[in-house]
Amino acid sequence: MRTFQALALLALLGPALPAPAETSSTPITISIESNRPGATIDRHIFGQFAEHLGSGIYGGIWVGEKSPIPNTRGIRNDVVAALKALHVPDVRWPGGCFADEYHWRSGIGPADKRPTTLNTNWGGVIETNSFGTREFLDFIEQIGSEAYLSGNVGSSDPREMAEWLEYLTSDRATTLQRLRAANGHPAPYSIPFFGVGNESWGCGGSMSPERYLSEFRRFATYAKNFNPAQTGDHHMKKVASGADTADFNWTEVLMKDYPGNGWSEMDALSLHFYSGFEKWPPNRPATGFDEANYAAVLKTTLRMEELVRRHSAIMDRYDPGKKVALAVDEWGAWYTPAPGTNPGFLYQQNSERDAIVASLNLNIFARHADRVRMANIAQMINVLQAMILTDGAKMLLTPTYHVFRMYVPFQDATFIPVTYEPGHYEAGSVTLPRIDVLAARAKDGKVHVALTNLDPSAAIDVTLGFPRAGATRATGETLTAPSIDSVNTFEQPDTVRPKPIGAEAKGGALVLHLPPESVTVVELD
Ligand code: AHR
Repeated sequence: MRTFQALALLALLGPALPAPAETSSTPITISIESNRPGATIDRHIFGQFAEHLGSGIYGGIWVGEKSPIPNTRGIRNDVVAALKALHVPDVRWPGGCFADEYHWRSGIGPADKRPTTLNTNWGGVIETNSFGTREFLDFIEQIGSEAYLSGNVGSSDPREMAEWLEYLTSDRATTLQRLRAANGHPAPYSIPFFGVGNESWGCGGSMSPERYLSEFRRFATYAKNFNPAQTGDHHMKKVASGADTADFNWTEVLMKDYPGNGWSEMDALSLHFYSGFEKWPPNRPATGFDEANYAAVLKTTLRMEELVRRHSAIMDRYDPGKKVALAVDEWGAWYTPAPGTNPGFLYQQNSERDAIVASLNLNIFARHADRVRMANIAQMINVLQAMILTDGAKMLLTPTYHVFRMYVPFQDATFIPVTYEPGHYEAGSVTLPRIDVLAARAKDGKVHVALTNLDPSAAIDVTLGFPRAGATRATGETLTAPSIDSVNTFEQPDTVRPKPIGAEAKGGALVLHLPPESVTVVELD
């Protein structure tokens, strides 16, 4: 049956793909070292982030039970269905900067009794608190994901944090457990990840690393999972607020405290890095850009490799056993806000360029799978490099969404090293590799290969080679677009969408034709 489906798919290839662009003169040979398996690519590197920011939550996820937009207990059905296809491993909530001003008691109980507050970080808008703890965890359950809560360190105290966790996880009849039951959830929630503060060097409290370290130790001591059944595999992992970009001293100070015996409250240390600009603030548009701009953004994106490598090297010195994960829990391209939108809402379009940005980042995380075991793209819906854009009842899937869907087989797959000579793609003063490749053996035993062609003018023929018996067929999808700044709009939602691609071995060689500016994922048989 599988063979028949694969052949049927191949038969479709001719008409489904746009006419191939001029093939670049130099084909590339990729050697897939399937006999040298590496680390497991943790599915949590495909995590997401949903903050109370712009229409990331209100409008994007939450429309309320009385909305004419089809919903389940107030949560949009179309968004839930789209996200289910991504197998989203975890969602970070409620912030971001919002988290360090969030007081969980504002978001529980009957909606009409919840206080109205101000979102001082993002546009100074009214926060109704109608989306709170119960609604978030309902959303998590509906999309089949896991919760990554960010706790308030900056404007809270350890008691408030501990009480939220008791409210969430206690299985004993305490007052807070009874309150949770009265609010509709008698069973304890599972909270696998808990962030102890966010950007504590900035909006999370403007602390020095030394000051944050002492706050982390104090808060983390009381940030407990109150459900004894949720230990072992269900142990709640605590994520310490980590460095901004190249603040290596922050990582040094936090890791220096890591005890020789390996026991620590810190299961992960975060890193935030946004690409798309060289110097704050973001200065490039999300649409209507030229090739020089395209190449410059990709160059900033590839900086992630150096950042991960250097932060990891510091962690290796204090934690050679790699017990503490590096959690890149905010990443993505940050452009100037879409014209005519509230600049505090960080709403931006998402183009074919962002598909390339997403694949390059995911490949970097996967190559560092031994240390990078969590990452959260910023953000899930309507904010920054989003998966989904909504406008009232309308919804569209962005090029970034399609990359995340195509990469699902890499979740918990085993990394396989690849060797190839990428060559150079040059745009003005910027020189980039022509291609980027990731290979892994999925949980079903099949080898999957992701290939990104950065060059917007030249298709590339790649030959896939194996040390042992080779594959005879590659089938999958490729995501390309009419131009580098092509986007999906509510009027034309399918301008950028994946199309089938494949190849049969000829004369012992398996050659794939990668369209210009494309992301391709194939399964080998
Ligand atoms: O993702 C937007 C903001 O960027 C987050 O709230 C903050 O943590 C970061 O600076």
